[in-house]
Amino acid sequence: MNYHIAPLFCRPWTLNGMSPRLIESHYEHNYGAALNRLNSVTSELEALDVKTTPAQVISRLSREQTTLLNSTLLHELYFASLGGDGRTLSDTIAGALARDFGSVDRWRHEFIALAEALTGDSGWILLTWLPRDGRLINHSASDHAESIAGGIPILALDMYEHAYHIEYGANTTAYIAAFMRNIHWGAVEARYTDAIKVSPPRSLDQPEFKDVPSITPEEVQEMLSSGKRVQIIDTRPRHYSTRAQDIVEGAVWRDPERIEEWMASLSKDEPVVTFCVYGFHIGCQSAAALRKAGFDARYMAGGHYAWKAIKGPVKLFA
Ligand SMILES: [Fe+2]
Repeated sequence: MNYHIAPLFCRPWTLNGMSPRLIESHYEHNYGAALNRLNSVTSELEALDVKTTPAQVISRLSREQTTLLNSTLLHELYFASLGGDGRTLSDTIAGALARDFGSVDRWRHEFIALAEALTGDSGWILLTWLPRDGRLINHSASDHAESIAGGIPILALDMYEHAYHIEYGANTTAYIAAFMRNIHWGAVEARYTDAIKVSPPRSLDQPEFKDVPSITPEEVQEMLSSGKRVQIIDTRPRHYSTRAQDIVEGAVWRDPERIEEWMASLSKDEPVVTFCVYGFHIGCQSAAALRKAGFDARYMAGGHYAWKAIKGPVKLFA
């Protein structure tokens, strides 16, 4: 595969405090060099006989390829982040920043702080949409890496020395201010609008229990800490519970196979939470049976292990 050069997105002569000479040098000598090296490393990797080449050689080339690919992608985003007046934010993007950072001003301060922290170092400052959480996040990325898995960066600030040195010397504060003055918010908004259409990662699908409501371990913790009364029933199967060493603090174990016998001891006036080992079947089936009998029951998603993974308190299972 051959990667192709992208034309400059911004018009260098329109920028405020960033000269065409700086942008031309950056585009030709840094973006261009990364692209050429990317193509050369990719050809080298593709030409290898992977059955006879040492694993370390394949790994080294693959890492280099990833770094160079990220460098080209981030440079393209950087040039596509410039060309505006830095001030005109539409309601859409201003609203998104206010929602996820408190205010546009707070977002700006955080973004600039991350950039200033890279002074004397090198890397990228990115504003990224994360489909899983449905929010924007600021972060830095060293060595063209450390991106957020599944994240879609929509604004990039290049903090490598080559991005500013010929114009600003070591004065990164002035360079960062110039970048902020030239952000093309219209282009950022267009990328944001595209990014939010990306579906979050698929969650665990259990169609057989789609009508049984669940509750997260965090929500159960909140109920407990707020003093809300709740009946927590550990319905791990008997064969499993005989070798289990711990149990959720505040839960009682009940044999799921004898649910018809013990459900009468539960109160219909307080919610019931059931769970099993991982949250797949038994906890869901127990919650379904209890709901059928008129209880306000839900199963705890992820079961016993999700509870332990969030450091929920457990006690010895005697
Ligand atoms: Fe660069």
